[in-house]
Amino acid sequence: MINITVEDRSGDVQTIEIPEGINLNLMEALKAYEYEMRATCGGMALCADCHCKVLEGWDKLPEQQEQELITLDSRPDAEQFSRLCCQIKVNEDIDGLKIRLLSED
Ligand code: FES
Repeated sequence: MINITVEDRSGDVQTIEIPEGINLNLMEALKAYEYEMRATCGGMALCADCHCKVLEGWDKLPEQQEQELITLDSRPDAEQFSRLCCQIKVNEDIDGLKIRLLSED
């Protein structure tokens, strides 16, 4: 199991267990666990609805691609540890990740 700790937009913290080998990105996995996420762009790194702040485990994550950096750049609330969940593949590498979901607006 891959454990991800998620603080939702109302401050509730929960650790979700995602089976290994599931071939989803983190945005899709969070939706599957019933986190509210519009994800208007469907995971193309364009809408920033899946914007999160990484609280622990930044070094475990894949490098940011250009489109993610451009999209985050347009968000006034983006900061050093911002990522887009749709750009993070769920695999064993990210076990133990902690994130905080940020506003979709
Ligand atoms: S779902 Fe649109 S940027 Fe991630």
